[in-house]
Amino acid sequence: MGPRDGLQNEKQVVDVATRVELIERLADAGLKNVEAGAFVSPKWVPQMAATEEVMAAIKRKAGVSYPVLTPNMKGYEGARAAKADTVAIFGAASETFSQKNINCSIEESLERFRPVIDAAKADSVRVRGYVSCVLGCPYEGKISPAQVVPVAAALYEMGCYEISLGDTIGVGTPEETKALIRAVAKAVPVEALAGHFHDTYGQALANIWAALDEGVAVFDSSVSGLGGCPYAKGASGNVASEDVIYSLARSGYDTGVDLDALIETSVWISEKLGRKPGSKVTLARTAG
Ligand code: HMG
Ligand code: MG
Repeated sequence: MGPRDGLQNEKQVVDVATRVELIERLADAGLKNVEAGAFVSPKWVPQMAATEEVMAAIKRKAGVSYPVLTPNMKGYEGARAAKADTVAIFGAASETFSQKNINCSIEESLERFRPVIDAAKADSVRVRGYVSCVLGCPYEGKISPAQVVPVAAALYEMGCYEISLGDTIGVGTPEETKALIRAVAKAVPVEALAGHFHDTYGQALANIWAALDEGVAVFDSSVSGLGGCPYAKGASGNVASEDVIYSLARSGYDTGVDLDALIETSVWISEKLGRKPGSKVTLARTAG
């Protein structure tokens, strides 16, 4: 998520060459999905402007997907022109967040997504679906699994191959995560679920393990813990990719990702952004 969720929330607009290098480094480290940018309004999220230039410049590796966000048909057309292999639509379980993030109600958002999915199907482009605010909303507070299930189910039934459940503000805990997964898995096969945990309250890695226990096997993360959402004030980044890979690899999972390469990328992007890496593993490995 680093090149998209990560950089979308940076105060400075990161140049295209750095965005391209970040994407290529992550793919070289062995990650099979590297979210590369967003075809959203540059007035709303200037950091993601020029995603078409980024997409044109990256050297694509065989077997790696480079998804981009597409909130509507205009976004989809941009993604298509940029030869994206995967696009992502993004809804929310909270009405207020939906309005603040994409300027429409949940119901209206689903109507906007439908033609995107239909066009993508016709073009053999995969569509991933996000549901934001699955464990809490910056405007409405607590969100119950009952609010998440219909949105996740609608996106899945429309044709998303995977539904990524977003704890946008990183407030959820492992028990809440388990209850959420159990509820959503009644409507969407657990194999089609992914977890997208922001680490604002330091719960993300624990929530990943809780979701793993429930059978979820896909997790979004961000190198160096970059990220946040411009419409969720105070939310910190996604769980750091290095921390997830360290935890899983030491526990016997074959992640296919080179931890040292990730750490190098974390140090490199942090230097570019003028700050300390946001990953405990990277800090530990580079201390002294
Ligand atoms: P709108 O203003 O309602 O759209 O925005 P509109 O259709 O009325 O169009 C208004 C203007 O925007 C027009 O331009 C359109 O051409 C333009 P103007 O005539 O004023 O010059 N426009 C676009 N430009 C570029 N790309 C487009 C596009 N669509 C319209 N696709 C819109 C609706 C969704 C576009 C807007 O609200 C938007 O861009 N929002 C940004 C949303 C965003 O990027 N949020 C962050 C990502 S989501 C996230 O981080 C959460 C996630 O990580 C999961 C989690 O953590 O929970 C995924
Ligand atoms: Mg996010």
